[in-house]
Amino acid sequence: MMLLGCTAAPRPPVARPTVTHVNVVEDARGQGVCRRTDGESLASDLPLVEVMRQAVNPSLSRISWLLFHDSRAADDDARSQQLARAAHDLARCFTLLPKRAPARGERTEFELLSIIQAHNASALADAALQNDVVSQRHWYLHIKETCQSCHEQFRFGAARERGDIGWDTESAHSSSF
Ligand code: HEC
Repeated sequence: MMLLGCTAAPRPPVARPTVTHVNVVEDARGQGVCRRTDGESLASDLPLVEVMRQAVNPSLSRISWLLFHDSRAADDDARSQQLARAAHDLARCFTLLPKRAPARGERTEFELLSIIQAHNASALADAALQNDVVSQRHWYLHIKETCQSCHEQFRFGAARERGDIGWDTESAHSSSF
């Protein structure tokens, strides 16, 4: 797989002077569920492609709008909370994604990429709560890179073309999301 050149770790939790309450509320909301941006939780038997279409892709669009097109100040509380919420939602979908690993081929690699992505999105949520714009953009770029890495291999990759990777067996829909 393509190794990402950056070794920066998410910053350790620090005091969050303005938005301390958010994390608790967000963490209590829908643990273990992948949600759409309208808050609706995804059905447990939804295929991977629908998870991408209904939750992952709209979440990333929302994040990118909040990061690059929102007219509010970068340290605006409401903006930070919305960004943190969207990033937490994205992280949760990727935490659950290993359950959607291909039935045939390279499961470990798929799981690893899912975990890296959950980590990237959690780090972005932390950066949002710390009002750290530089770090927010940093983790956003890692998220985009990881979307691309996984797609190169599992969505468009040669192994998939050959049929060495696939979701189309009996077990493909048996795991609960
Ligand atoms: C761990 C692997 C993995 C990661 C990470 C990943 N994807 Fe995907 N994605 C896939 C696979 C595999 C498919 C193709 C599924 C299929 O066609 O059955 C896909 C398909 C898609 C599609 C096409 C849906 C359609 O309508 O056909 C979109 C859009 C998408 N992903 C968005 C994203 C975005 C945005 C990110 C990053 C935030 C992302 N994905 C991260 C594995 C991944």
